[in-house]
Amino acid sequence: MKERILQLTAELNQHNYNYYNLDNPTISDYEFDTLLKELEALEAKHPEYKQADSPTMRVGGEITKIFPTFTHLRQMLSLGNSYSREDLLHFDEQVVKLSGGNPFSYFLEHKFDGVSMSLHYEKGILVRAVTRGDGVQGDEITANVKTIRTIPLKLQGTDIPDFIEIRGEVMMLRKAFDDWNDEREVNGEDRLMNPRNATSGALKQQDSAEVARRPLTFFAYQIANEEQSAPTDFENVAKFQAWGFKVSGHHAHCANMEAVLDVIDVWESKRFDLDYDIDGIVIKVNEVGMRNEIGYTSKTPRWAIAFKYPAATITTKLLSVDFQVGRTGKITPVANLEPVLLAGTIVKRASIHNADEILRLDLHNDDVVNIEKGGEIIPKITGIAKRAEGATPIQFITHCPDCGTELVRPEKEVNYFCFNENGCPTQLKGKIEHFAHRKALNIDGLGTEIVSKLVEAGLVKNYADLYDLKHADLLKLDKFGDQSAKNLLAALETSKKIPFEKVLFALGIRHVGSSGAKKLAKHFGSLAAMQAATEEALTNVTDVGETTAKAVMLFLQEPANQVILKRLEAAGLQMVGEAPKTPVGNLLAGKSFVISGTFVNYSRDGLKEYIESQGGEVKSGVTKKVTYLIAGSEAGPSKIEKAEKEKVTILSEEAFQKMIAEG
Ligand code: IVH
Repeated sequence: MKERILQLTAELNQHNYNYYNLDNPTISDYEFDTLLKELEALEAKHPEYKQADSPTMRVGGEITKIFPTFTHLRQMLSLGNSYSREDLLHFDEQVVKLSGGNPFSYFLEHKFDGVSMSLHYEKGILVRAVTRGDGVQGDEITANVKTIRTIPLKLQGTDIPDFIEIRGEVMMLRKAFDDWNDEREVNGEDRLMNPRNATSGALKQQDSAEVARRPLTFFAYQIANEEQSAPTDFENVAKFQAWGFKVSGHHAHCANMEAVLDVIDVWESKRFDLDYDIDGIVIKVNEVGMRNEIGYTSKTPRWAIAFKYPAATITTKLLSVDFQVGRTGKITPVANLEPVLLAGTIVKRASIHNADEILRLDLHNDDVVNIEKGGEIIPKITGIAKRAEGATPIQFITHCPDCGTELVRPEKEVNYFCFNENGCPTQLKGKIEHFAHRKALNIDGLGTEIVSKLVEAGLVKNYADLYDLKHADLLKLDKFGDQSAKNLLAALETSKKIPFEKVLFALGIRHVGSSGAKKLAKHFGSLAAMQAATEEALTNVTDVGETTAKAVMLFLQEPANQVILKRLEAAGLQMVGEAPKTPVGNLLAGKSFVISGTFVNYSRDGLKEYIESQGGEVKSGVTKKVTYLIAGSEAGPSKIEKAEKEKVTILSEEAFQKMIAEG
């Protein structure tokens, strides 16, 4: 048994490494998952054999309410900035002076634009991960960081120090960021601004399983305890690699400042072709042993500096503004520009985020605009360079460019929407694509192009129509032959076995993402039960707030949707999930509870589950009708105040446990 656990641990770690560090998987995802499940099952039976570097930790699951503060063993400094050749020559002069005439060279690396992190390894095992914080103290977020696949949980190789502190940057690669944003959009969430924000948001999650779902990566750049460092940073790169870290591979070793300036020139335009964002170039004295002599200011080393590229900007003419309609009906303005070469690529379009942005920029027809290329793929308009005489302001449209429906800007929203959910062609296509998505009904062969064809041919006016498609209908469309028609029909048939929680997600109800759908499905057990539920009952589901509950009600009450749901059910889709847990006891029957704060012996979900298993009800807000407020540490003051006002009994965790023990 122990042997098998050790074997699976080593094997799976190697596969993770092949996949994430080398981009070279040697087994399928399915085979990987099967082995991982086997290991999980064995570890559950024999926790005593679980290894410190078990790959099962990559999937997370640990919840941390408040991250403990950790005082860095050595301060995490920042870097001085430089912006020009002159700045760098000045830096070089200083280093020469401070180095006391000893020979030295420079080591260059990208300045990774992510979140810096300190990793502590004891005897090769990752024991602690700490954020930079204010440089002196940071947050310990070990469980979250363990989910990052490119961070070894155990250092590889034979050169393993007793203790080592490795610093580096947690990042999200651009492609992963774009995919993650697409996924957010599928889930009805807003897109995030940039990979750095996405990374820092991900690391702040209290549920490490949630972090595991975000595509984070890590680049190591420093050994903080210098006694463990190689003589030069150039050699440290090889160490990082040997220990199993991913390195960017774009570092450089320069004999002098002239060579440094050449490398900096090269990356000025090449930086836009990287698969991650950089914030400049870091220039460090390569010889680690000389650094203490060269010294430090209170905040920065004197042996290193960051070079920041000026933002790539240019002016061009605004030709027109398009208004694009998204799946949820959100309208996004996009500028069409006179094509112009900027940082190595031809720019024709620029994003303008919303209506307010048009006003803020005061955009007029034919304006000559300043555009800037940051990390984003689409550059942005930063201002107006020149206005043509008699130019008129750009007007935000009042009606949907697709279906002509009048647009609405809901309260507290920055965006306009077309609410013709079932009649607007773009929205309809988006809805069908969402319905067929891998995470929803997983209908193979129903991608963007085919969906467009089906909608344009008038064969599909809502997702229920998919199940009425006939072989002969499909043959009439170009791109469809006998086999592809058969394949699509077979995929539709297979989708009828997809579990209810995914069907619920596939419906594309506003604010109901995949995890929300899962929770609703688990709580109610069937569509019928949801249809019978009140808005209040909906808000009793974990993580379902008022906005989501309202959106669900609105969706289920809409007569057109009711017809569609009936048809889906008649077609054979799963509208019933696993039955919700029936109470196993009735200790708490007839009593209702509100839970606030964190608990020693329960997770919040666990406590809720327990109460329900004893016939009790869990509510989200304190009202007169609630029997008890269970207040853990950091319980919400407003909940306590309300409970006092409404004379609702407040129980501590101990008091609650005592109550149960006494039956
Ligand atoms: S070396 C200051 N190398 O930049 C101590 N830092 O502004 C030496 N950073 O907090 C740091 N990429 O998180 C170094 N290749 C790189 C880096 C890098 C990004 C970050 C680092 C630090 C910040 C300083």
